[in-house]
Amino acid sequence: PYPVYEMLRKEEPVFRLMFPHGEFGWIITRYEDAVQILKDPRFSKDMVRRYGADNQSIFSNNMLFSDPPDHKRLRGLVQKAFTPKLVADMRSHIQDIADELLDNLPSQEKMNLIDDFAFPLPIIVISEILGVPLEDRDKFRIWSNTIIDASIAESAELFEQHAREFTDYLTAWFAKVRQDPGTDLISQLVIAEESGQQLTEQELLGVVSLLIIAGHETTVNLIGNGILALLEHPEQRELLINQPELIHNAIEEMLRYNGPVEFSTSRWALEDIEFRGERIAQGDLVIVALDSANRDEQQFKDADIFDITREKSSHLAFGKGIHLCLGAPLARLEGEIAVSTLLNRFPNIQLQADVNELEWRPGMNVRGVKEIPVQLK
Ligand code: HEM
Repeated sequence: PYPVYEMLRKEEPVFRLMFPHGEFGWIITRYEDAVQILKDPRFSKDMVRRYGADNQSIFSNNMLFSDPPDHKRLRGLVQKAFTPKLVADMRSHIQDIADELLDNLPSQEKMNLIDDFAFPLPIIVISEILGVPLEDRDKFRIWSNTIIDASIAESAELFEQHAREFTDYLTAWFAKVRQDPGTDLISQLVIAEESGQQLTEQELLGVVSLLIIAGHETTVNLIGNGILALLEHPEQRELLINQPELIHNAIEEMLRYNGPVEFSTSRWALEDIEFRGERIAQGDLVIVALDSANRDEQQFKDADIFDITREKSSHLAFGKGIHLCLGAPLARLEGEIAVSTLLNRFPNIQLQADVNELEWRPGMNVRGVKEIPVQLK
């Protein structure tokens, strides 16, 4: 998509188009504009207000789709589980999970990097935080995939069906937890719900499904896209192997160069807004092309070059403003551990396919490859 973004940044940085379902919207591609829009309170994320309470899915009643003050309340309920300090304490456990996944590969010669490593790692971690059964992770994956790729029109029915199955599953799970709460995050939310009326049943569903979906659809592509970038740039890989302390920088560059979330979720204008010579009408949707902003030459020198020594990067892969990714510290740590462990154990890892033939996932939101076959030794 990058050449298209480059053209849009130059010629139509605020680009109007018709979205699925016949709504008008705008795509923002420049870095400077992206920051401005993501921080502007005249753009709402409240989907209940926009579409009405009867037109909501499992995925609507959560912090990502609400404005202050609900946003702050909903984010506050789970924030304490994702502070940098608490996340840092998970390091050795996440390391054990990464080692175990690599110990138990079906073959020590080759693997599919996505299914065998990049996918299970973040899922195991988020399932443990939430306290949901790990053995149901294949179901979570199917449900998350459909919900995230709902922008593809022909999946509308499937979306309904999977959203219903996901809702029923979680509702039954909450009932079980209410009987016998533990120390996991869902137990804490259930206790908060019962004691202080701080969140409704819909919101409980919304927040938990958001965390499960975020845990499934994002970090997997940080690991996948990141390793892919290293495999495509052998000199960068050598550099990282020789200077492992570059890993923090390398992860930031992976997030910038091929960010896992291609577009922000949509916002809508609460009033008519003049923006860079265009008139964004009240009610119009606006989407920020994060992966375009992250390649903007006005912000990043040699933006199309993958350089793990790049100085502090200020990329927008985790968004900006009040909806800045809650899971960023966790995602960074998972990414670091995954990439370092893989390179440590298999420094000669090679791609076993033509990079141009790899199949990218459909849908507008996440950017990631379906399968990455690699030779390990
Ligand atoms: C929000 C990216 C991993 C939980 C966001 C947003 C982005 C993003 C761009 C803002 C979207 C918008 O403003 O429209 C990423 C990337 C990840 C990642 C690139 C991995 C590399 C995670 C993980 C979790 C998570 C592992 C869960 C633990 C959330 C939540 C929000 C969010 C709860 C909503 C925050 C709010 O509305 O206040 N993420 N995410 N993310 N992310 Fe992540």
